[in-house]
Amino acid sequence: MRVIVTGGAGFIGSHLCESLIRDGHACVGLDNFDPFYPREIKEENLAALSGHPRFKLVEGDIRNAGDIDAAFHAMKSLTPENADGGDMVMHLAALAGVRPSIKNPEKYQDVNVGGTTQILEAMRRHDVKKLVFASSSSVYGNNKKVPFSEDDRVDFPISPYAATKKACELIAHTYHHLFQMDITALRFFTVYGPRQRPDLAIHKFTKLLADGKSIPVFGDGTTSRDYTYIDDIIQGVRAAMGKAEGFHIYNLGESQTITLSELIETIAGALGVTPDIDRQPQQPGDVDCTFADISRARAELGYAPTTKIRDGIPAFVNWFRTRSAATAPAEQA
Ligand SMILES: NC(=O)c1ccc[n+]([C@@H]2O[C@H](COP(=O)([O-])OP(=O)(O)OC[C@H]3O[C@@H](n4cnc5c(N)ncnc54)[C@H](O)[C@@H]3O)[C@@H](O)[C@H]2O)c1
Repeated sequence: MRVIVTGGAGFIGSHLCESLIRDGHACVGLDNFDPFYPREIKEENLAALSGHPRFKLVEGDIRNAGDIDAAFHAMKSLTPENADGGDMVMHLAALAGVRPSIKNPEKYQDVNVGGTTQILEAMRRHDVKKLVFASSSSVYGNNKKVPFSEDDRVDFPISPYAATKKACELIAHTYHHLFQMDITALRFFTVYGPRQRPDLAIHKFTKLLADGKSIPVFGDGTTSRDYTYIDDIIQGVRAAMGKAEGFHIYNLGESQTITLSELIETIAGALGVTPDIDRQPQQPGDVDCTFADISRARAELGYAPTTKIRDGIPAFVNWFRTRSAATAPAEQA
C-alpha cells in the first residue's frame, strides 16, 4: 500500500506512519507544521522515520493544491514492500481543539472544511479513490442518549470545531456519491498516549502536576469522557484502511467513561502527588459527556480496544517522564 497521511507529523499521524512503515507499506506525511503547538515537538514525532526509504515528508498545506500534488507525486515515487491495498489517503490534518475554535471559527472552517475539499479534489486529479479521515466524537454535541451510536442524529454541534467535522462528513459523502470514492469517517473519542497533543487535558494536567502547580478544573468535575489509547486507535484506523469500501462512519472509542475528577486522581496517583484543584466555571463549547458505542466498529472492522485508562495513564506518565528528562536543560556546573 502507498498512503498519503495528512497531518503526518502530528500526534496520531506520526504513530500511524510508523505503523505503516513497520508493516512494509510506503507513506508520505503531508504536514505544514501548523503553529498550534511547537514545531520541535512534531519534528521529534517524526524522528524515528527520518531517512527511511519508504517514508517521505512533504511540508505543505492542505489548502494549497500545489502542495497536495507534490504529496501525490512523492507517493507515486515510493515503492512499498507490502503491495496490499493500492494507493489511498489517510486524512488527519486539521485544526483540532474545541475552545480555540470559538476564538477563530473562520480559520477552522478554512483549514478543516476547505482543506478537506482540496484533498478530495486532488484525489480526483490523481485518480486515487480511497479515503479514510478523522472525524470526531464532538459531532454528537450534548447528545443525551448514551452510549453514542453512529445512527444518532448529529445535527446539533456546540462548537465551530465540531461543526467543521460534521461538514467534512457531509462533503465526503458528496464525493462518494458523485465520484464513486470509497470513504470512511472515523469518529475518534479523545485519544491519549505517548506524543499526545500538549493542549489536551491528560497531557496538560500531567505537566501541571509534575511542576507542582494547581489544576484549573472547568465545572464541578463530573463531566466525563471516553478516552482511547493511541495503540487502540491505530489498530482501528489500520482496520478501516484495510476495508475502505463504500461510505462508512465508525466510532473509535474505548466505550468506557471516566469523570474529570477521577481522571485527575488517576494521573496524580501515577505521578505520586496530591492534586491542588483550582475550580473554574464550565467552558462554552465543552460537552458534558462522551461515550462511544463501538459495536459497529467491532463487528465490521474487528476493532478491539484493549488498554483501559488505569493502564494507559501510567504508560503516558512514563513517556512524559522520559521525554521531560530528555528535554530538561543541562544542569549548570
Ligand atoms: N487527538 C484526539 O483526541 C482527537 C479526537 C477526535 C478527532 N481528532 C482528529 O484527529 C486528527 C489528528 O489529531 P491529532 O490529535 O493527531 O492532532 P495534531 O494537531 O497532533 O495533528 C494534526 C496535524 O495536522 C497538521 N496541520 C494542521 N493544519 C494543516 C494544514 N493546513 N495543512 C497541513 N497540515 C496541517 C498539524 O501541523 C498537525 O501536525 C485531527 O483531524 C483531529 O481533529 C483527534
